[in-house]
Amino acid sequence: MMEGVAVRVGLLGLLLAYVTSAPTNVNRDWDIYSFHINSTVTSRYATTVITSRVANRIDQSQEIEFHVRIPKNAFISKFRMTIEGKTYDGVVKQKEEAQQQYTQAVSRGQSAGIVSSVGRTLEEFKTSVTVAALSKVTFELTYEELLKRRLGKYELLIHARPMQAVADFKIDVYINEHPGINILEIKGGLSTKELANAISKTQTSTEAWVHFYPSKEQQSQCDSCGEEGLNGDLVIVYDVHRKKSIGDLKKSDGYFVHHFAPSDLPRIPKNVVFVIDRSGSMSGRKIEQTREALLKILEDLAEDDHFGLITFDSSVSPWKKELLPANQKNLEAAKIFVQNIRDRGATDINAAVLRGTDMLNRHLREGTASLLILLTDGDPTTGETNLETIHKNIKEAINKKFPLYCLGFGMDVNFEFLEKMALENNGVGRRIYEDSDAALQLQGFYEEVATPLLTDVQMVYLGGANLTQTNFSQYYNGSEIVVAGQITDNNIEEFTAEVIAISKSNKVTYSETIPTEKPITARSDSNLQRLWAYLTVKQLLDKEVQLSGNEKETVKKEILDLCLKYGFVTPLTSMVVTKPQGEESQVAHKPKEGETPTGTFPGHRLYNIPAYPSISGQPGIPGVYGVLGPMGGPHFQVQAIGVPQGSRRAGRIRSNVARGDKQIRGQYLLQEDFLLDANLPTRSIQIKPPKDIQQLLDGNLPTHSTKMTTTTVSPLIRFLLPAEGQALPLCYDIPVGLSLRLLKDPNNDFSMNGHLEKSDDAGYQKIVIHYRSDQHIDFDTTGITFNNGQNATYFPWSLNINIEKDSVSLILRDKEMDITTGSTRVIIMLYERDGNVFLWPVLRERPKGDNITGIMARPPVVYEEVQGTTIKLKIQDKEVDVSRASTVDLSVRSAPTVTCWLTPLQSALQGELADFTVSQL
Ligand SMILES: *[C@@H]1O[C@H](CO)[C@@H](O)[C@H](O)[C@H]1NC(C)=O
Ligand SMILES: *[C@@H]1O[C@H](CO)[C@@H](O)[C@H](O)[C@H]1NC(C)=O
Ligand SMILES: *[C@@H]1O[C@H](CO)[C@@H](O)[C@H](O)[C@H]1NC(C)=O
Ligand SMILES: *[C@@H]1O[C@H](CO)[C@@H](O)[C@H](O)[C@H]1NC(C)=O
Ligand SMILES: *[C@@H]1O[C@H](CO)[C@@H](O)[C@H](O)[C@H]1NC(C)=O
Ligand SMILES: *[C@@H]1O[C@H](CO)[C@@H](O)[C@H](O)[C@H]1NC(C)=O
Repeated sequence: MMEGVAVRVGLLGLLLAYVTSAPTNVNRDWDIYSFHINSTVTSRYATTVITSRVANRIDQSQEIEFHVRIPKNAFISKFRMTIEGKTYDGVVKQKEEAQQQYTQAVSRGQSAGIVSSVGRTLEEFKTSVTVAALSKVTFELTYEELLKRRLGKYELLIHARPMQAVADFKIDVYINEHPGINILEIKGGLSTKELANAISKTQTSTEAWVHFYPSKEQQSQCDSCGEEGLNGDLVIVYDVHRKKSIGDLKKSDGYFVHHFAPSDLPRIPKNVVFVIDRSGSMSGRKIEQTREALLKILEDLAEDDHFGLITFDSSVSPWKKELLPANQKNLEAAKIFVQNIRDRGATDINAAVLRGTDMLNRHLREGTASLLILLTDGDPTTGETNLETIHKNIKEAINKKFPLYCLGFGMDVNFEFLEKMALENNGVGRRIYEDSDAALQLQGFYEEVATPLLTDVQMVYLGGANLTQTNFSQYYNGSEIVVAGQITDNNIEEFTAEVIAISKSNKVTYSETIPTEKPITARSDSNLQRLWAYLTVKQLLDKEVQLSGNEKETVKKEILDLCLKYGFVTPLTSMVVTKPQGEESQVAHKPKEGETPTGTFPGHRLYNIPAYPSISGQPGIPGVYGVLGPMGGPHFQVQAIGVPQGSRRAGRIRSNVARGDKQIRGQYLLQEDFLLDANLPTRSIQIKPPKDIQQLLDGNLPTHSTKMTTTTVSPLIRFLLPAEGQALPLCYDIPVGLSLRLLKDPNNDFSMNGHLEKSDDAGYQKIVIHYRSDQHIDFDTTGITFNNGQNATYFPWSLNINIEKDSVSLILRDKEMDITTGSTRVIIMLYERDGNVFLWPVLRERPKGDNITGIMARPPVVYEEVQGTTIKLKIQDKEVDVSRASTVDLSVRSAPTVTCWLTPLQSALQGELADFTVSQL
């Protein structure tokens, strides 16, 4: 059935089903009795070790899992399992080499890939091993990262999610910063009131210790925690003192690192041009969030900044032909322009960026810093569409005169293309995640580059070798320049660092000399070497992206050598996780930014699995859950915890796939009777592929969980509305708890009202038919009561009766009551489905006359499908957005599941909900 749907919409197949159940686990047969995270930070280089000790509690051997999340920016550098006194160390190998083992494992149907990307900041590492009866295993994972200074702070993020409450749970953080620790704050989801007394913090001028030791009870009681124990982040935010402008120079064991982040300089006025995509795919929330962010950014411009705005689709429309000063008048005019940005057309990135470059090139002012910022959510689809040609054009036009920052909005952008374009032009590529805070992400990015303090920064080291990047086109307040290198031991006595740069109006130079034989720190610190290696590898990876041919191979070789030496798992290396004999080795690959799962299902490609965040906290707004395609590919399983059992709720998974500028939306139903509705009072949603697919792809397909608030939405009941001359009927949703006017025929003194009970997900609990001024028939789930003014007569549903009286004919048979009066014929059916008992009315003959009202009064609708990028119907001359959905057709006993166009109630009924409610049955 789903395949039919997918083919029809021409969309990649998407099939979701949900299972209502509480989280599995808890009575697991194994116990994590100890879980420690130990993070040590020196010179902003963080090394974190996660150690998990697990006991097999049953009398037979079983597979035990290790499952943790680490920051994307980090490199895994060690993994070890210890079982029965024997250790098994992961081995880092060249990716291709490891890949072979991987492929073999896959072809044998074994689990293989074990690292996958989750959300914006984390990667998931997942493996398992068979442990003998009543035996124990220790897992130990080490990862390393250089903390990046952003908006004046470093952030060490530690994600804790052991998957159960653990008796011995600890997070220990030790920070040692030679220049002195300035601020130190603890944030993140785990820094809550309930857990406050589990956190302790001690500090001297250069050292800090943070301990987080929650009790087992606390682990399941805090906000973000549940039966599965802790689930959240601990974020240590800090900065260091900078007594000297030249910053912090540190050397040890033949290596040095220089942290340079002056803040006591005047800001340099900037020339900034924003190039904004307004192509069709930006429609809806994206364009709204972009407008919102731009308005805020405009407010933050300083008066001596000059700015330009360019919007583009297939054509390029600058706000003004050139840059204008950011004075009040111009800003007001620009805001009006921004407010009127609307989505349309295709995407001509080439022409738009060239236009922006040209504007800046014509406006290069002495003593200013120029920046070009591109925001797009799609691939180039019109004008020049050859990616290489675009890269070449832009690089030539910019010619290193200013940086280009490329912001890719959503998961459908070709991020590699954008990143490469940015890197080639001294900028960075950044992804903006399609989520409720997208406007804040955009503003946050802007803030990072809002205050240029220096341009043309050159870092020079006399006596240094194998240096990381030393030339930087701009330096912004709140950021930091880090250079590391080796110190040549050619008997030079001094090591000199010099910074030459251009400040607002003059050239500035800082320098510092340190004797080579006397180390700056007393303690030897082998971390500096690893820091150097980390930074070198990161920068070489960026460089590699920009190169081709032999040069690329040379750089790859360089990266590979370093990674193998230092044991880093990077895009070019993988770790082979060795296991006890008889078990398959696994291979840990580092996923690329935004990478979709790499596994393939015969004949299918996978798209954007991680991109389903927008449902979070926002019930009612369908999110993107992931698409497997094409045409009814493998199925996903959706676990919606908190949805009442036996719900017959139709599915409302909205798929939103943009390819280029073509955006296809739809709502997909997934499996009969087991559908997920974003409107349900769902507590959390888990999406995972079914077992067979999981085996093929293994850990590459992330299981995604997201929590939703419980109270804000009431359950809905879906109604069908037949359509004339079209294959699919319409459907619409009405919240439960209301009394509705079903049918009112004033001409014949007939009316019928029904009550949708507050319990979820069935039909009516009560229906009342009024006929002649004083008579009514009351239906509930036990029986039928006739009231004729004074007397009441009751029949249970199980009876068969046949009454003809006072121009009303009543036939009760097989739990269906057939009522005919005048030209009206109604059937009330009693249903018992999925443990729910409810009533459902069906109109067999419509009363004649004009002023018939009520939700059942509406004759079959007439609509047309509107061709376009989104699914629209034209109903009563108005276009409305609809989506494909399904519901159960209760008008026939067999209650088949039917597909329908889910339409806003207002359009379906041509009125407001209030027009159809009654205060009394
Ligand atoms: C954390 O790791 C460091 C470095 O390996 C070690 O010196 C320290 O003792 C560890 N701390 C704890 C609490 O295990
Ligand atoms: C740079 O940042 C520092 C610290 O946040 C602040 O005190 C200083 O005023 C900023 N400089 C400029 C030019 O904005
Ligand atoms: C850094 O910039 C200076 C001056 O523009 C130049 O001479 C030098 O070659 C550059 N260094 C690198 C590594 O690009
Ligand atoms: C720089 O790195 C290369 C390759 O890793 C190495 O052979 C060389 O000795 C290094 N230079 C210095 C001065 O240490
Ligand atoms: C029914 O509609 C007619 C005109 O459309 C109106 O005159 C009449 O009053 C209505 N009857 C009732 C009971 O509302
Ligand atoms: C009510 O019931 C009584 C006794 O069964 C009967 O005599 C009377 O006619 C009934 N009244 C009406 C209005 O049906």
